[in-house]
Amino acid sequence: MSIRTTSDQWWNNGVFYCLDVETFLDTDGDGCGDLGGLIDRVDYLAGIGVTALWLMPFYPTPDRDDGYDIVDFYGVDHRLGTLGDFVELVRTARDRGMRVIVDLVVNHTSDQHPWFQSARSDPSSPYRDWYVWTDDPEDHEQMEEVFPGQQKGVWAYDRKAKQYYLHRFYGHQPDLNIANPAVREEIARIIGFWLQVGVSGFRVDAVPFLLELEGVPDAPTVDPHQYLKELRAFLQRRQGDAILLGEVNLPPDEQRRYFGDEDGDELHLVFNFSVMQRIYLGLARHDATAVEEAMRELPPVPFDSQWATFLRNHDELTLDQLSEDEKQEVFDAFGPDPDMQLFDRGLRRRLPPMLGGDVDRVKMAYSLLFSLPGTPVLFYGEEIGMGENLAAEGRAAVRTPMQWSDEPGAGFSTADPGAFAAPVAEGEYGPLAVNVTDQRRDPDSLLNWFERLIRRRRETPEFGLGEWRIIDNDVPAVLAHRCDWQGATVVAVHNFSPEPCRVRLDLDGLDDVVAVHDLLDGVRSDLHEPALDLTLDGYGHQWLRLRRRGQRMTP
Ligand code: NOJ
Repeated sequence: MSIRTTSDQWWNNGVFYCLDVETFLDTDGDGCGDLGGLIDRVDYLAGIGVTALWLMPFYPTPDRDDGYDIVDFYGVDHRLGTLGDFVELVRTARDRGMRVIVDLVVNHTSDQHPWFQSARSDPSSPYRDWYVWTDDPEDHEQMEEVFPGQQKGVWAYDRKAKQYYLHRFYGHQPDLNIANPAVREEIARIIGFWLQVGVSGFRVDAVPFLLELEGVPDAPTVDPHQYLKELRAFLQRRQGDAILLGEVNLPPDEQRRYFGDEDGDELHLVFNFSVMQRIYLGLARHDATAVEEAMRELPPVPFDSQWATFLRNHDELTLDQLSEDEKQEVFDAFGPDPDMQLFDRGLRRRLPPMLGGDVDRVKMAYSLLFSLPGTPVLFYGEEIGMGENLAAEGRAAVRTPMQWSDEPGAGFSTADPGAFAAPVAEGEYGPLAVNVTDQRRDPDSLLNWFERLIRRRRETPEFGLGEWRIIDNDVPAVLAHRCDWQGATVVAVHNFSPEPCRVRLDLDGLDDVVAVHDLLDGVRSDLHEPALDLTLDGYGHQWLRLRRRGQRMTP
């Protein structure tokens, strides 16, 4: 039964892996990663147990926002390969049991996109109304800049157009006007195109901004959530098992709408920004209470839908849902140097250096990530514990080339590192100390630990599909939660403190429990009452499956 369900709802029990083709592996020696390189590493990714690849934008681009500024939604940037290579990637990934999803960035285009060039050149251009224009920005509600310090407001004057255009992100990224039916039709065409090419879904960029209608003259004619429902219905008509994974950084009570409330007919997966931010607060405080609270605040997700959980992504570690004092606590603990901070809301760092390289603490954090209700999403290099390069500009600090070996160029490219698309990380977390080749040889490496963790996570669908609840306990540093699914129960326990502790957990309703199986170290013990008495190491973590009378033990 379980494999039938987990295969049917593949996105609810998978492990997603985000990467940028540009920084993964360069096979033609020009210093820029390419699709050929990614194809060469498909077996590596399948080997660690990844089930879906999320490719950051690979479309033709002037590359002023790492590819999130697109000039052609139907192509592949010439630096990265061809559409033919893309199809080969999808085919080889499929052959090894992995699906591919791609970034759908349709809140805006590059200002170099032919649509915008036409729109600005001629008021009667059919593309004029594809963007959002005004004669007077003062007429509009003050909207916040997404990149403070790097943007001058959200309206930019275009001398050719003699009007201001809306850009919620950089000035070179004019917003598309989704109130225009022609734009909505084009977005559907883009989705249809990539589905036809073989993708299994989309990571939808900046969803609340995409749906926002401020500044749009015809706004009242469009219900944005109705539009998202229509997009989902279109996706599903074209391909029944394709998914939408949305970037929605909003407080939990506002996120449920993006799932389509109880109907569950909008996004399949929504990134869990609120729990992610509170995990960092908990780590900073050595106390799990903030995480527990964040979990209790989560709205129930509709059937077929799920949270996408993550600890790091390609952007700054945003802490915008924390209070000023809480944010400061995290800054003090993990990024006290102003150079580590960005936009006054986040940190441009990766996890291991933030945790001072404490392997037990790093493992505890990832064990938590993989056991939280949801589908875990890894950012490339997390599986080997890569660090950031603060010498790189802004968010580029965490987008350094994948570290395959200790060779010059990190085994990423044979080109002169000066010509690399992004600088390699240096020092303690650089390729001499952290790389795939060395970690493959070492059974105790983080990479091999991840491989075992991912295998176990895939065999533990209770985490992705079950009903979960917090188990109250009297140690503030300990987060314990339980997931029940199809008569099976697992319990995950995480100690946020460096101090060892003992904790007692009641197992309500499990009066017929007879044994407990530690899924990570394999130890099995008999149980004579519905309660667990556990001893946890400092930063310890455990995943436990309970066996009830008449049930078989899993391997
Ligand atoms: C969100 C992406 O994650 C970010 O990297 C990008 O700069 C903006 N959207 C604009 O597309």
